Amino acid sequence: MERTLAIIKPDAVAGGHSGKIIDRIIVEGFAIRAMKLTQLTKRQAEGFYAVHAERPFFGELTEFMSSAPCIPLVLERTDAVAKWREVIGATNPADAAEGTIRKQFAASMGENAVHGSDSPENGIKEGRYFFSESEIVSNGADVIDA
Ligand code: CMP
Repeated sequence: MERTLAIIKPDAVAGGHSGKIIDRIIVEGFAIRAMKLTQLTKRQAEGFYAVHAERPFFGELTEFMSSAPCIPLVLERTDAVAKWREVIGATNPADAAEGTIRKQFAASMGENAVHGSDSPENGIKEGRYFFSESEIVSNGADVIDA
């Protein structure tokens, strides 16, 4: 089993899409191992996206991510990283395939509804950025066939 970190971003939470996105997570066979509603500080957003610190969109990205509540989740599944990236679609919603979460809910490259880790290593690391070990429930219900 592999883990990935998902974030339902501020635009999707404010737009009232959290329930549908969480339902999709379950339908796609992920087990939710941790989840919370939180509003990041600018500093927390900068820490999470530190790898993008030199990019021109870093200020806009971290302003947006700290502007309103978001929902980080630790998801577990076989091939969790690749599967979640398939379900969410391309970073730019204009390029996202039909049926993906970004095609359905995202407005722009910056406000693109959801995040997904880009490797299994980052899935673990990013999960730890938001949750302590005791908040990640590793002995919960197994994946339920939807
Ligand atoms: P995410 O998967 O959270 O990882 C990094 C984020 O940076 C990405 O989604 C986008 O929201 C954002 N991003 C990437 N490229 C751009 C861009 N050119 N302009 C604005 N935001 C971007």
